[in-house]
Amino acid sequence: MPQHPVRISPSILSADFAALGREIEAVSAAGADWIHVDVMDGHFVPNLTIGPMVVKALRKHTVLPFDVHLMITPVDPLVPAYVDAGADTISFHPEAGPHVHRTIQLIKSLGKRAGCVLNPATPLAAIENVLGDLDLVLVMSVNPGYGGQVFIESQLAKIAALRKAIDALGKKIDLEVDGGVNVDTARRCIAAGADALVAGTAVFTGGPSKYADNIKALRS
Ligand code: DX5
Ligand code: ZN
Repeated sequence: MPQHPVRISPSILSADFAALGREIEAVSAAGADWIHVDVMDGHFVPNLTIGPMVVKALRKHTVLPFDVHLMITPVDPLVPAYVDAGADTISFHPEAGPHVHRTIQLIKSLGKRAGCVLNPATPLAAIENVLGDLDLVLVMSVNPGYGGQVFIESQLAKIAALRKAIDALGKKIDLEVDGGVNVDTARRCIAAGADALVAGTAVFTGGPSKYADNIKALRS
C-alpha cells in the first residue's frame, strides 16, 4: 500500500519560462506538494533546460521542496551545484553514470534525498540492489526530454512491481510517476501503487486561475 496520500509535483517545464518565479508561487498557493524541476543537458536527452543558477533564483519563491530530476550525464560533478541551489530531492538516471551506488551516497552525504529514475525500457532490476538506499523511485511513463507526451501504458506494471518491492522492504521510499499524467492516467497510477505524481501539462493548462482545480482533479 502507498505510504502517503498522493503528492502532486508540478513540472515547471510546462510553466511560462518568462515568469517562473510567479508560476512557482501560483502552483504553491494552488496546493502543490513539491516543485518538479526538469534538468536537461542536450545530450543525455535532446533538450536543454534549467541550470543551478536558475534553481537558486527560484528558491526564494516557495517553501515547498524542490524535486529535481536530472537528465544529465555525467551526474556527480553537478550534484553539489544543485544542492547549493536548494534542491531537496535529487533524482538521476542509472544509465547516466557507471557508479549508481556512489552517486546515491554523494547526494545523501550532502544531506539531500536521493532518487533513481527508470526510463520506459529500463527494468526494475537496474536499481534492485540499491532500492533500500533510495528515498524515491521515479518511473518515467514517457521518454524523457519533453512535456506533453502520451502516457506509456506498459509502465503501469512496473509501478505495481515497484510497489511490491518497496512494501517488501518496509522502508519509506516514495514511488513517483512522470510523463503523460492526467486525470485518467493519475487514477491508474495511484491504483497501481504510486504515491507521488509529476504533472506538467495537466497542471499548467489554462493558466494560474485553473491551477488549484487542476491539482485537485489529479488528486481525487
Ligand atoms: C519529461 C519530464 C517531465 C515532463 C512531464 O522529460 O521529465 O517531467 O515535464 O510533462 P507532462 O506532464 O506534460 O507529460
Ligand atoms: Zn521530470
